[in-house]
Amino acid sequence: MTPQAEIARAARILRAGGLVAFPTETVYGLGADAANPQAVARLYAVKRRPADHPVIVHFADAALAFSWAREVPESARRLAARFWPGPLTLILKRSALAGDFVTGGQDSVGLRVPAHPVAQALLRAFAGKQGGRAFSGVAAPSANRFGAVSPTTAAHVRADLGDEVDCVLDGGPSEVGIESTILDLSGAAPVLLRPGRIGAGEIEAAIGARLAEKAADAPRHPGGLERHYAPRTPAALVPSWRLDAEIAKRGAKVAVLAFSRPDERVYRWLRMPRDPQAYAQRLYAALRELDEAGCERILVEAPPETPEWAAVRDRLARATA
Ligand code: TXA
Ligand code: MG
Repeated sequence: MTPQAEIARAARILRAGGLVAFPTETVYGLGADAANPQAVARLYAVKRRPADHPVIVHFADAALAFSWAREVPESARRLAARFWPGPLTLILKRSALAGDFVTGGQDSVGLRVPAHPVAQALLRAFAGKQGGRAFSGVAAPSANRFGAVSPTTAAHVRADLGDEVDCVLDGGPSEVGIESTILDLSGAAPVLLRPGRIGAGEIEAAIGARLAEKAADAPRHPGGLERHYAPRTPAALVPSWRLDAEIAKRGAKVAVLAFSRPDERVYRWLRMPRDPQAYAQRLYAALRELDEAGCERILVEAPPETPEWAAVRDRLARATA
């Protein structure tokens, strides 16, 4: 099939209520028509995701996305102009288009316009009118089982979800490698719910306001669960200065993710880049590889405590919680 024919087929599957896994620049998503309760119910079943956890709805452009919000603050317009299409999700007060089955019953909805060309082509092909129905948004959590490491290649999706999805579009490895930054603009002050490639500083500069800290009663979202994005093998975060001692203590059956050069005592060693964006791009594939090495424990050398590492530190903290 030509790429265009494949996209057209995937869009038909979505319109008919099927499930399509597709690449985005962050991670691969598992898509369903966000206005179709049966399709979204099947999406949750395949992910083994609890029904009260909301999903992000994806659109081809900001105008479509904002039609799912009943109020669009100036800050949202600025951020959309600056960062969409791109790895940013905005939480806004929902319009009547956003049903309880995508918002987890909350009065807000998560909106994102991804930049990946395959995601863009799919969302554009999906949107439009047919048979008296208007199609616009695609609900898409990461295309993995609930709580596990997100997929950054089509092969990861097939390994995780196999024949439970109707179609897997392959767009190569995801460029960002970790999930989108999530910013909640549904309350009195903007709140960063999940750090990502787009940093807090860039957002503050774009809206000319400081971001509030996440409150203890913030809306429930699985990215906020303590243990998430986690491999099956027990994993621990270790400061650089303690890595040697920890390896000596653990013995051979240990797998290590580190900045430094391999240590021959160790069964499996992956050396990671010192650039935070390059690190993020490789992180989930690396965790999968170490998970499959059959070790008793994964040791992860802790990255620096600087702002540009915030998103990677967040994912590592959850993977090792
Ligand atoms: O990069 C990404 O965001 C990827 C790609 C596929 O777009 N998607 C993704 O979806 O990471 P998921 O479902 O794995 O994580 C979405 C996060 C969850 O923590 C969810 O609870 C939160 O977004 N979320 C969605 N709607 C929300 C809402 N109305 N209020 C608070 N959190 C919300
Ligand atoms: Mg996820």
